[in-house]
Parts: sequence; structure tokens; C-alpha cells
Amino acid sequence: QAPQDLAGLRVVVSAGGTREPLDPVRWIGNRSTGRQGVALAEAARARGAHVTLVAANLEAAGSETCADEVVRVESTVQLRDAVRAAGAAADVVVMAAAVADFRPAAPTEAKIKKVPGQGPAPIELVENPDILAELVRDRLRPGQVVVGFAAETGDASGGVLDHGRAKALRKGADLLAVNAVGGGRGFGTPDNEVWVLDATGEQVAHANGTKRQVADVLWDAVAKVRG
Ligand code: C5P
Repeated sequence: QAPQDLAGLRVVVSAGGTREPLDPVRWIGNRSTGRQGVALAEAARARGAHVTLVAANLEAAGSETCADEVVRVESTVQLRDAVRAAGAAADVVVMAAAVADFRPAAPTEAKIKKVPGQGPAPIELVENPDILAELVRDRLRPGQVVVGFAAETGDASGGVLDHGRAKALRKGADLLAVNAVGGGRGFGTPDNEVWVLDATGEQVAHANGTKRQVADVLWDAVAKVRG
């Protein structure tokens, strides 16, 4: 039995990766499977929290049972609406989903056709809302703790932490979990290595292990922030 140190807390975790439609059958997406987000939901629930999972196209096992409520979304705009709806009553919001920065400007209702003799049509993109930045700006609930993730390529000495610190300052989230991706790390793997930074870019925790172990270290850091 895990310590019930999150008992009575309402938490929202976004997980997975967004899909931005090009036409009815195609999208622009990313490699996130949702494993770290599902592990975060499971760990919070085991520690007594009420968990809402906002699930973007999850491939990870356990997505049905890891949370008290599961809201399924596909695109970034849908994810924002779901996170804000659930976030209005939340003590903690963790943005673990990999969110597309851009989306096709005008997804077509009919399937895009290949026209013989014509090259590909260019795809115009527009910027998506930065959901994490909006949560920090709007503070949907007084005292709400907002946590972001930052997937960076490289290693601790080679840029991951420098990029992470810059992002922590830019995003202003109470905690930013910086994880190394690329070279077989991060997306879809059972393990993860994460440095947890506060809003000033100071490192407050480090975790290297299963995604569940990483999740518990992050919840420890959240519990500390809440005091
Ligand atoms: O800047 P970057 O995309 O690396 O930031 C990652 C963090 O910001 C993640 O927590 C992700 O869920 C969140 N994010 C967001 N909205 C976006 C892009 C990223 O909330 N449009």
C-alpha cells in the first residue's frame, strides 16, 4: 500500500500525442505512446488522488483502468478544451502529452487526391495554442500546481539540462520534468530519465528508472511544492 499523501487531491494528467488532421484519413502526429502519462495517473491514484486522464490517442496499456475518469481526445484544440474543463476543479494539472506546436491551417473534408502529373500541394500550418503556457497564465484555480514536460535530445552534459532550464524560465510552470529523448530513449520505452526543475530552473529532483518510479519521484516533488 502506497502512502496516501495525495488523498483528497484532484489531479488532471494529459497523456499521449496529439493528431492534427490533414483530411478525413490523414494526420500529423508524433511518437508519444502515453506510457509516462499512464504511469503518472496510476501512481497518483495509488497515493489517493482523484485522477482525470485526458488521453490523446494512447497506445499504452492500462489506459482504461489507470484513472477515475478518462476523456479521449485527438487534436490539440480538443486536448485544450478537455484539460481546461477538468482543470477548473483540479489541484494539480500535469501536461505529459506531446502536443503539436502547429496544425494544418485548413483540413479538407474530402480526402486529398494525388493528381497525375502534378506535384504535392504544400501544407500550410498555423500555430496551436500553448496549453501549458495558458494554464500558467490563467491559473484556473487558486493554488493550482501546474507541471510540464520537456522532451529534449542530448544528454545531461550535452544540452538537455541547458534547454530544460531555458524552457523552465520561459514556460513558468511550477515544475518542469525534463527528459532525454532520441537514440532509443523516451518515447515508447519502459524506462525514463527525468530532471525535475522548478520555475526558476533550479533542479529539485532527478529520477532514472521505470516510468512508474519516475512518476512517483514527480509526485513527491508536487507534494513538496504544495507544502
Ligand atoms: O515547448 P515544448 O513543446 O517542448 O513544451 C512541452 C510542454 O508544453 C509539455 O508539457 C507539453 O504538454 C506542453 N505543450 C502544450 N501546448 C503546446 C505545446 C506543448 O501544452 N502547444
